[in-house]
Amino acid sequence: MRTVPFYRHGLDESYAEAVADVLRSPFLTSGAVAKAVEAQLCAFFDAPHAALVNSWTNGGAALLLALGIGPGDEVVVPAMTFIATANIVELVGAKPVFVDVDPATLMMSPAAVAAAISDATRAVIPVHLYGQMCDIAALRRALAPRSDIAIIEDCAHSFESTYDGAPPGTHSDAAVFSFYATKNVTCGEGGAVVTRRRDLFDAVLQTRLHGMSAGAADRFANNRYRHWDMTRLGTKANLPDLLAALLPPQIATIRDRLPARAAIARRYERAFAGSAIRLVKSIAGAQHAHHLFPIHVPPRLRDEVLSALNEQGIGCTVNYRSVPTLTYYREKYGYDADDFPVAYEWGEGTISLPLFPSMTTEEQAHVIDAVRELVAPAVGA
Ligand SMILES: Cc1ncc(COP(=O)(O)O)c(C=O)c1O
Repeated sequence: MRTVPFYRHGLDESYAEAVADVLRSPFLTSGAVAKAVEAQLCAFFDAPHAALVNSWTNGGAALLLALGIGPGDEVVVPAMTFIATANIVELVGAKPVFVDVDPATLMMSPAAVAAAISDATRAVIPVHLYGQMCDIAALRRALAPRSDIAIIEDCAHSFESTYDGAPPGTHSDAAVFSFYATKNVTCGEGGAVVTRRRDLFDAVLQTRLHGMSAGAADRFANNRYRHWDMTRLGTKANLPDLLAALLPPQIATIRDRLPARAAIARRYERAFAGSAIRLVKSIAGAQHAHHLFPIHVPPRLRDEVLSALNEQGIGCTVNYRSVPTLTYYREKYGYDADDFPVAYEWGEGTISLPLFPSMTTEEQAHVIDAVRELVAPAVGA
């Protein structure tokens, strides 16, 4: 049976040398390698500050702690996203306020966010879903005059994306990235917080490390121990050099892999045009990172199609079921599927197909044929 994985990473043996260099050094955790990657990220995003973290989730929690967000505060999040976007709000004791998404782009519109704002709102977390960016400048305008509301971009899918030519982090308080195993840039587990705000950066350096006033490398600089203090509560979110060592070549070449991702997305789009399969609308002016390729089939067919594809050796997954309808959020806040109908309907019908730069045209043809053969007869097409 021909199999097609959902994702195939591009890290080969050549990366072993960078890890071996760290192993030969006395310092395995966050040190010179991580600092160099942070400088590389600043250059890539044209931003003054970047802090590596050990996951989007821990970086996001460190960021909320740095913003002083906690019990009694509200943070606006989309209903269609990965659970982590809302979970970090719960983790710091604040309340996630879910907003339904636009049916064409599956992202929150600035008007919908503005309608969800209350006196308790301290932040908004727009998600650049599947790899295309929403308009952060428009969101900022829609929130005016509430300049006290922080905009935190969820960039787990959008490392190489731009909107009107501007990268993530340009119009927000901070952009948070994920380097999880399947992401376009990966070190297995990891992430980064990029910000233009010096005050926020200084605070994140502490909240990503227990709230300590100095990191390990600085505490032992020049082989002399220096006392440290703890002035605020933090978590443990720093990225070790062992993992950071995998990032530099990927960041340097990420844009070279975008044409391959875009070509695969275009072939899927052409293959499913005019069928019962619905696709996400592309936003004019947004450079898509093509992180995921979700399709939407009639919800009554979804689980059957998904299992049949898996049985045929095709790796597929679901990104995502509507977050407020998952048991934890439903039980805690009493949400109903009707409360967020767009996210619910999309979440009941969506399937993510394999998309990775080294996917061959034969592999993709196999996926396309399998999807067509499963969906077309079932909808009488
Ligand atoms: C949209 C989104 N946000 C946040 C995350 C969490 O990232 P991490 O696994 O690095 O914590 C993910 C990971 O899949 C994601 O897809």
